[in-house]
Amino acid sequence: MSQRTLVLLKPDAVRRGLVGEILGRIERKAGWTIGALEMRTLERGILEQHYAEHVGRPFYEPLVEFMESGPSVALVVEGERVVEGLRALAGPTDPIAAAPGSIRGDFGTIVRENLVHASDSQESADREIKLFFPGLA
Ligand code: TYD
Ligand code: MG
Repeated sequence: MSQRTLVLLKPDAVRRGLVGEILGRIERKAGWTIGALEMRTLERGILEQHYAEHVGRPFYEPLVEFMESGPSVALVVEGERVVEGLRALAGPTDPIAAAPGSIRGDFGTIVRENLVHASDSQESADREIKLFFPGLA
């Protein structure tokens, strides 16, 4: 079942020079393609919408500050079961709990600086793709 999902390479991934490494892992998955890609520093307005479900939680404000701290790379990935697949490739939220072989497991230690975002459901993906790529059909 072909799907689309929204992926962010967060400011820590860009600062640490891991963009090529992470994009390479996504591109090498059979049949997956990058449908859109843009590098930019995300502004508070878009982050407040993106992370609306977390408003009021103790980690929310530091998370938004971190996400505003430098450029991110936003991309749409298309292909077979990409919603579930990108979550698996990223690994669990806490990089220490993430298995080696996953992006977070291989490169992360800090929960907030966990390198990547991937939509958690098809509904979230549709909403997030519209938010980050409003011009995309
Ligand atoms: P969440 O949606 O729970 O995780 P995921 O990115 O795996 O879908 O949380 C969003 C981001 O918020 C998460 O990637 C990192 C940050 N975060 C914290 O900084 N501290 C926390 O305790 C949690 C749960 C998340
Ligand atoms: Mg989430």
